[in-house]
Amino acid sequence: MLGSRTAQAFELHREPGRQISGTARIWFTEKIRSLHRARPVAQELSTSSTLRVRTALCDECFLNVPAADMQLVQLYRKTEAAMEAARRRRPQRHPQRSGEATKAIALHCLGPEGGSEQGRGEQSALERVAHVDLSRQGCGSLIHFARAAMAEMMQAVQYSSYGGAHAALQPFRLAEMRFLNSGLTSDIVENCDVKAEHKEIPIPVPKKGEILVKVEAASVNPVDWKMQGGVMRPMLPAKFPHTPGTDIAGEVVKVGSEVKDFAPGDKVVAWLELKHGGAMAQYAVANPKTTVVRPPEVSAVEAACLPVAALTALQALTSGGMNFDGSYSGNVLVTGASGGVGTYAVQLGKIAGAHVTATCGERNIELIKFLGADEVLDYKTPEGKKLISPSGKKYDLVVNAAASAVTFSDMQPQLAPKGVVFELTPSPKTFLTSVIKRVSMSKQKYNQLMLNVEARNLEMLVGFVKEGKLHAVIDSKFPLAKVEEAWKKSKEGHAVGKIVITVTEE
Ligand SMILES: NC(=O)c1ccc[n+]([C@@H]2O[C@H](COP(=O)([O-])OP(=O)(O)OC[C@H]3O[C@@H](n4cnc5c(N)ncnc54)[C@H](OP(=O)(O)O)[C@@H]3O)[C@@H](O)[C@H]2O)c1
Repeated sequence: MLGSRTAQAFELHREPGRQISGTARIWFTEKIRSLHRARPVAQELSTSSTLRVRTALCDECFLNVPAADMQLVQLYRKTEAAMEAARRRRPQRHPQRSGEATKAIALHCLGPEGGSEQGRGEQSALERVAHVDLSRQGCGSLIHFARAAMAEMMQAVQYSSYGGAHAALQPFRLAEMRFLNSGLTSDIVENCDVKAEHKEIPIPVPKKGEILVKVEAASVNPVDWKMQGGVMRPMLPAKFPHTPGTDIAGEVVKVGSEVKDFAPGDKVVAWLELKHGGAMAQYAVANPKTTVVRPPEVSAVEAACLPVAALTALQALTSGGMNFDGSYSGNVLVTGASGGVGTYAVQLGKIAGAHVTATCGERNIELIKFLGADEVLDYKTPEGKKLISPSGKKYDLVVNAAASAVTFSDMQPQLAPKGVVFELTPSPKTFLTSVIKRVSMSKQKYNQLMLNVEARNLEMLVGFVKEGKLHAVIDSKFPLAKVEEAWKKSKEGHAVGKIVITVTEE
């Protein structure tokens, strides 16, 4: 039983003699929502059913609402009124709620028409409700109730602060989680230093220039958990709560009024802007400028692997002078070749015509050769550490996907006189080194790469996958309910290829 002053308990009597006592309000919300959606069911129940609402704020106060009246708005208002009456009777037991606050709920959440079809599901109204801070006045649960009632909901993973410490979660969410744990939606992440919450939140509504995608698959990138850890904070302040993830594949279900290039039913792959995220959910809003159509030959899982990892590999190689028509004749080194970016960089290097040397752990040597690498170095051997090509070749281009494990001074001795390194994991130290190289007029370059997503590049990659030239190496797949395991795996740094979240696609 929710006994706190911010909580309410409800009992639903559907038939005389049969009592379902669902005391968690979240359960109640679910039930009401499903009844509301299925109007005929609600009407069928009207002869025999009564909805009895009891607020925990007042044990004496019950509401009997015939099922025929099960319009959520009315129900909500009656509940409110009952609570108000109870409060007047026993003021010492009931938190005060200002008239303003109640009005805010009524207006913003229910709409002036009392929650008309048109008003329901309006994200803007819901967002405004979210800003009415009633939780301190004992009405946090009502906000939730109202939000749930008014909008189509989806499952999503969110976190509410950088660092993800347990304490960062808001108190009433922790209370709620106890009920969620009992089976309704999902649970709180306990076994990982990344604390994400599995939540039901309103499906986002696309703005004029946006599209709403029903997510079939998403993929995890190190940047997702780096951002969660606060590393990107100076550059990309995220709004909380934040739904992480940038890479999705799915189906367009709604388009904004100004969107011309996409229509509902289109299968797509999209990159979601890092600061907005949104991939770890059943629905996501995407920008058409970073979305491309996915042909039937390209599965959602393969497509979801592409945006960050393959685009980064493509950008590094393109910036190094490749155009992927097989005409490149230089030597390329790909470090961290068994990771998300590396597996694509090796394949793209071969498509471009390069001689590819790659570094990886011993267990992945055969895989990297299979992907097309001409020479593979085990990074734990002395030659591997020194990045010495078995054929003695010097590198014209290096894609350093091994992060800080490989530094510029490791690479420099093996660089061709005009060799260029693309550093994928910039840090103050790598920036300083690259500035020093620049001011010293060195012909060898050390460039810090920041991904710049362009639809035409994503289109090119989708085309390669369609033609069977480019393959996603899948490390593992996790359902949306187990995002935290995917997070953990990525953080451990030993993924072979991409970690995928399957939302609808297996
Ligand atoms: N700048 C940008 O815009 C951008 C874009 C994308 C990615 N990135 C960054 O690029 C880096 C790589 O990303 P990712 O998605 O490829 O990461 P990832 O998938 O997590 O990479 C994991 C792989 O790296 C291998 N590895 C680790 N240390 C190595 C070493 N010293 N030598 C060779 N291989 C090594 C691991 O092999 P073992 O298991 O055998 O150790 C593992 O297979 C990350 O730091 C990421 O943040 C930057």
